Amino acid sequence: METPPAKSASPRGNRGRSRLTRRRFAAGVALGAAGSAALGAGLIVARGGRVTAQDAATPVAAPGRFIEPGVRLSMNGLLDTTLSAAPDATDGPGRMTYDGELPGPTLRFRPGDTLKLRLQNDLGGDITNLHVHGLHVSPRDNGDNVFVHVMSGESFSYECQIPDNHPAGLFWYHPHSHGDSMQQVAGGLAGAMIIEGGLDNLPEIQGIPERLMVLQGPFFGTAGIQYLVNGQVNPEIAIRPGQTQRWRILNASANNFFNLQLAGYPFHRIAIDGNPLPAPLTIDLILLGPGERADVLIQGGAPGSYELRSLAWGERGQAQPDFLVATVTVAGEAETPAPLPTTLLPLAPPYIDLSSVPIDRQRIITFEEASDAPYFSIDGKAFDADRVDQTVNLGATEEWIIRSNNPDWHPFHIHVNDFQVMSINGEPQPAHYEDTTPVPGNGEVVIRTRFLDFTGKFVYHCHILGHEDAGMMGVVEVVEGANGATPIVFPAATPGT
Ligand code: C2O
Ligand code: CU
Ligand code: CU
Repeated sequence: METPPAKSASPRGNRGRSRLTRRRFAAGVALGAAGSAALGAGLIVARGGRVTAQDAATPVAAPGRFIEPGVRLSMNGLLDTTLSAAPDATDGPGRMTYDGELPGPTLRFRPGDTLKLRLQNDLGGDITNLHVHGLHVSPRDNGDNVFVHVMSGESFSYECQIPDNHPAGLFWYHPHSHGDSMQQVAGGLAGAMIIEGGLDNLPEIQGIPERLMVLQGPFFGTAGIQYLVNGQVNPEIAIRPGQTQRWRILNASANNFFNLQLAGYPFHRIAIDGNPLPAPLTIDLILLGPGERADVLIQGGAPGSYELRSLAWGERGQAQPDFLVATVTVAGEAETPAPLPTTLLPLAPPYIDLSSVPIDRQRIITFEEASDAPYFSIDGKAFDADRVDQTVNLGATEEWIIRSNNPDWHPFHIHVNDFQVMSINGEPQPAHYEDTTPVPGNGEVVIRTRFLDFTGKFVYHCHILGHEDAGMMGVVEVVEGANGATPIVFPAATPGT
């Protein structure tokens, strides 16, 4: 992975570029429809940044226009771009944007490409940095290194070499400066990354209309509580009767879950966190914790207007109201529904099925909440960038048992290497990979993962950024060779036991 692979230099200007470079309209225009929906919104920010929306009664504006973020494409194996993070008061108090766009521009590239990103900190005070969530790239130096601090007024040039065998799918970028992550992501700093290939080339999927939906919010302002899809309140998503569309959905909110339901329509889920599923999963409800992604196929049915909602979810401090996300309008000339795929893509390197391989080591990781400091921790320890919490051997296969010792759900996320979810609360899961997975309150998730290709330090954490900023994050260091601990060799376990 260290040497950039030779890549055929095919110019990419002929691949639907005009469709992809459509720019979003000025936010002021796009949000105009919601301008009349003024209502004071109650908000509690509890210790550790737990955010509870108390007032779900915000009036909802008539559907707005569905638009997508601008796109920056790699050319000849290289995506070289600059992002300026800056306050954006025109959109409301606390808003921040990359290059004035909410969400930030979508970066599209391919396995084997090089990603060069110069981050300019124009926030006017805060420290920031940039993390490429879900990418299997080096965490060192100017790679996906969240220990970098980009001071106000300064810039930093990141460079990531995307492996040739990198899974294709939906990823995202966002700030990751400890203590400031929640405020900056909640302010709007987030953007999608799409790696092309994989599922895109299946005959049933190739060429079908594709929509990216970056979900953000809640935002609090004079218009009440707002949840945004690509910066828009309640956009109207058009589909023809019988037409199949692929939606790529990203939960880019700092603390909020999206518990998505599209009245009367099943979702045919084809990917989780940028990892293709072996076969579509037909479901009525998709729970996406902060940081999680879903690719789904949707088929238009009878003409009419249908609500995409986030249903009420969570308990106690995490209770969220039901709210409207978007409006789906089925209209126009009917199409004969094309058959949906029955199989997708098998697990493939780097992410192979680990259900029956020898495990080098098992660890228990507990998301803890306590009434004394540290209030939010992992295994009783609040994040310390100078401490290594887990030392692992390069190439090791490990099983991590991840627990919550409290009623809160905690979306577990680790950088650099995705993991296979083996079981949730003891229930075995079909073989698939994720990079972020919610650990239920007082529950347990068992994962297996291989620490492949890259040595160095990176982090694992709860992706509720209020929890993360308050300390729910740990450091893992991947080292070459023996790390001092005798590996415990477990027999190949059956999932869930
Ligand atoms: Cu999406 Cu460590 O972050
Ligand atoms: Cu990440
Ligand atoms: Cu948490």
